[in-house]
Amino acid sequence: MYRGNCLDIIPTLPKGSIDAVITDPPYGIGFVYGASKTGKFEIKKSAPILGDDKPFDPMPLLNFFNSADPDRSIPFALCGADHYKTRLPEGGRFICFDKSCGGGAASTFPDAEFIWTNRKNARSIFRWVWQGCVRQGATGNRLHVSEKPVELMAWLLEHCRVKLGSNVLDPYAGSGTTGVACLRTGRRFIGMELDPGNFEIACKRIEEK
Ligand SMILES: C[S@@+](CC[C@H](N)C(=O)[O-])C[C@H]1O[C@@H](n2cnc3c(N)ncnc32)[C@H](O)[C@@H]1O
Repeated sequence: MYRGNCLDIIPTLPKGSIDAVITDPPYGIGFVYGASKTGKFEIKKSAPILGDDKPFDPMPLLNFFNSADPDRSIPFALCGADHYKTRLPEGGRFICFDKSCGGGAASTFPDAEFIWTNRKNARSIFRWVWQGCVRQGATGNRLHVSEKPVELMAWLLEHCRVKLGSNVLDPYAGSGTTGVACLRTGRRFIGMELDPGNFEIACKRIEEK
């Protein structure tokens, strides 16, 4: 794990050292968990996500790996991609992360999230219940306001055909979910995180995996 701004750290990595980028960047939506009132109680709000106060531009990341190594088209998967769809390149595919699995309309949480990949696979759906405190397979407290299921990140590694033993980069690592998925499935992991609290959580979680 590197602590700092990924856009400063990535250019210092040795050429050709990254085989895939699987990440969940800040979406540019100013997301704050629990920012609503229910009856007479105000739900405690989370701290804002660093970088989420301005539109996310995926191009510096995509351009860096294409221009740094034009002979290798490495797999990319970018979560929350519908939020910055107008800044994605042509081509690629959207994957639907179905978070309600049919729970639907009664819930105030979103039913789905969209992930973009540069792999031209069939358009796919990953189904896993993940809404608020209802989190399939998870035990214990939420580790990050935008925490993803380890199972989703492990599925993305397979979907993007990331080979076993590959070096996978998550430049927006948050609580280290992609790292846990990589180590549990036989890939190597390089993570970057700007927020010191999230960095500590990610390091501990990856060590314990
Ligand atoms: C959407 S969250 C990722 C959450 C992650 N998927 C998880 O399961 O915990 C994005 C993360 O990127 C971090 N971040 C924002 N800008 C960054 C930057 N320039 N460099 C590195 N990390 C950054 C934020 O602090 C936040 O933890």
